[in-house]
Amino acid sequence: MGIRIGVLTGGGDCPGLNSVLYGILLMANEKTEIAEIIGIEKGWTGFLTNKTRKLDISSLDDLHTIGGTLLYTSRTNPFKDIMKEKNLEEREKKIKKIAEEMSLQFETLGIDVLIAIGGDDTLGVAEAMYKYTKAKVIGVPKTIDNDLASTDYTFGFWSAVQLASNSMDNITTTARSHQRIFVIQVMGRDAGWLTLVSGISTGADIILIPERPFDFENEIINVLKERVKAGRKYHIIACSEGAIPTFESLKRDFKTLTQDSIEKLPKDDFGNPLLSKLNMSQIIVEELNLRKDLKEFFNSNDVEYDIRDVILGHTMRAGTPNSFDRILGLRLGVHAVKLAIEGKFGFMTCLHGDKIDIVPLSKGTQKKIVPKDSDLIELCDLITRVKYHKNH
Ligand code: F6P
Repeated sequence: MGIRIGVLTGGGDCPGLNSVLYGILLMANEKTEIAEIIGIEKGWTGFLTNKTRKLDISSLDDLHTIGGTLLYTSRTNPFKDIMKEKNLEEREKKIKKIAEEMSLQFETLGIDVLIAIGGDDTLGVAEAMYKYTKAKVIGVPKTIDNDLASTDYTFGFWSAVQLASNSMDNITTTARSHQRIFVIQVMGRDAGWLTLVSGISTGADIILIPERPFDFENEIINVLKERVKAGRKYHIIACSEGAIPTFESLKRDFKTLTQDSIEKLPKDDFGNPLLSKLNMSQIIVEELNLRKDLKEFFNSNDVEYDIRDVILGHTMRAGTPNSFDRILGLRLGVHAVKLAIEGKFGFMTCLHGDKIDIVPLSKGTQKKIVPKDSDLIELCDLITRVKYHKNH
């Protein structure tokens, strides 16, 4: 009897999920060791409630080219209630108990191995199952945010960068026609990769990311003034949904936002604050609209002071994956099946250079934010400052 592999997709949708599924199916189709691939619907929800269906490659022609996930996805966290437990020892005990219960689901679902495709939240659940029960789990890293530490890129990232860049290029032309300031909000919960890369690639004028809390007066107001002095008539501000002002700037410069309102944001099932609810791009527009002094400055330089915000939101992770993400997804999926055949569990497949590699799930679930010394930060400063700053 061959190996029965269950596969689920969890967390936010991401271009390339179907590509991973197709990679899994392609490899399983060739290998006699694999009996069948069982799709588990809606991430951990379907895992806990037995929502499965057999996946048959013959009816899924070129699935890797299609966006989204045919298995559906959810942000269900089986450990949700335990996260409220303050006592760490108690919490650990409860996590262990749930992990043990979850491992019993393998039999109910009729699977020997589970491949979980997801970001740090989804893979964190798989990791706990492996840690406490040595469950036969394998992870595949997914997220448009590109914020997982042990892989060079997560699939979905470059598709999202392209979508964001296309939108920013388009907005730039209308910003120019009206002499407007556009504040464009880009997805990315904790990490600024998406905003930084799409902002640089489209020549955004100010780029705000969570890793570098911004000073409203110095980095927005003063920069806009300098840009106007340098003859610039329109301005694109790329703003990550996770971008926040420095503590001092928040207290000093903001009329419509307080520390309290940030702390009171609702949280998702994994305890992540829903930063998109804050809508930093809208806040920046509101604050700019309150600045009569800046309006006068613009007008006295014969430039319009007209400000709009655009939230790219879910458009950034919609549609078909680009070629890079199709290939990466396929490769990660193929490799996950190889691990199942070799009996290597508790690992995540990943990209290192041009090779598909593996890392323990415990490492794979760690976060990767933009480091301060990243050459992308340097590039960001060069490309934004050149438009108003002359050293000699
Ligand atoms: O984690 C990926 C992501 O797209 C983030 O960039 C964003 O904050 C979040 O998902 C949005 O999630 P939802 O689909 O629940 O609105």
